[in-house]
Amino acid sequence: MDPGADLDGPKRAATTAAQTADDPAVNSNTKAAAGANGSCFVRSCLRLPVDRTPVWFLRQAGRYMPEYMAVRKNHSLLDICRTPEIAAEVTITAAERLGVDAAIIFADLLLPFTPMGVDFEFVANEGPVVHAPIRSVEQVRALRTDRVDELSYVARAIEKVAAHFGARPQADGDQLGIIGFCGAPFTLASYMIEGGSSRNYIETKKMMYGDGVAWPLLMEKLVAVLVAYAAQQVEAGADVIQVFDSWAGALSVTDYRQYCLGPTTELVQRIRGLGVPVIYFGVDTASLLPTMRETGADVLGLDWRAPLDEAWKALGHGVAVQGNLDPITLFAPADVLHARVAEILAAAGGRAGHIFNLGHGIVPGTPVEAVLQVVQQIKAARVAQVPGERKTYPRG
Ligand code: CP3
Repeated sequence: MDPGADLDGPKRAATTAAQTADDPAVNSNTKAAAGANGSCFVRSCLRLPVDRTPVWFLRQAGRYMPEYMAVRKNHSLLDICRTPEIAAEVTITAAERLGVDAAIIFADLLLPFTPMGVDFEFVANEGPVVHAPIRSVEQVRALRTDRVDELSYVARAIEKVAAHFGARPQADGDQLGIIGFCGAPFTLASYMIEGGSSRNYIETKKMMYGDGVAWPLLMEKLVAVLVAYAAQQVEAGADVIQVFDSWAGALSVTDYRQYCLGPTTELVQRIRGLGVPVIYFGVDTASLLPTMRETGADVLGLDWRAPLDEAWKALGHGVAVQGNLDPITLFAPADVLHARVAEILAAAGGRAGHIFNLGHGIVPGTPVEAVLQVVQQIKAARVAQVPGERKTYPRG
């Protein structure tokens, strides 16, 4: 399949500028279609021309932000995720404080573990801990895929965020994009199998290379759960879904292709079939990017290690890209930060389909003023994009 080829889907309406939300043919994806017109973020996901580059940040609602810490003082991370009012408030506050073009719903990658029957907790300074890691085929067989409804608190939070921003365009009239997200099968499997973060992914790779039963079954179950979870988010108003494959960079191209490309492609394609663009992101992926592109994702998230122009060229310009400032540059003096941001904009070359972001999440301790400086710089930079080579969609 041509990696940039479009997927047919009866509900597909993530669409062209010519379509409007009034189009009676655009029904269940009215929101995505409207977003494509009025949101520079959604338009860039679709490689439609915009007059300024959209900007948002991975982990924009996090511990670097005093407003988040104030909420966190009284609530655990999981409490925030599981209480739609609070999750929505945290999402909205971060997006408005920064003035970014997209709001990513406040949730966590590991939330789907609970309805699958995998208990976990977040331990201070250690990150997520799964107490009974999944290591055997019997354990994989016991994983539940029939309780995804229990995750509907995320959809309820998205509804609140969508209602809030639907009624409030930005000062320049641009509509904020709403991003839902889920993990990719490999990255989620790595947490389930290792029991937490990992350096060498030994247990994960043991299952991957193993009996040929446990790993494919685990992939299948994860994809089933993640598609249903993403569908809830789209239904609730997410304009775009980002698939986090944060640790895919631990894989060789051969292993990624043999054990992960198939299930990840299925996930990406089924989400695209819901009518929204998909952003597919991983870290340390320079060598994997051309293979990751084969998933058919609309946008590839770039980490900061490769220059954006080289990475985009390697992918081909038939796909949008997101990135790719080193998050630690936010600790640099203002002039250095300014130069690095300018370098990325220059590397994007005014081509349609670039979304400015970091190459990974904002870290605790990052000065909020530095993040605001980047937003200002990006928003002040005009780009003159012309409709060029871009995707055409079935209705477009
Ligand atoms: O604005 C946002 O992006 C916040 C929403 C968000 C969170 N987690 C909340 C969170 C998102 C998009 C995630 C995704 C997530 N969760 C990823 C993929 C993104 C990436 O960074 O690659 C991963 C790997 C996880 C799993 C996870 N959650 C880890 C490894 C940790 C510990 C990290 C640390 O720095 O301690 C978490 C905790 C977590 N999830 C925090 C936040 C804001 C920080 C901890 C806290 O508030 O107590």
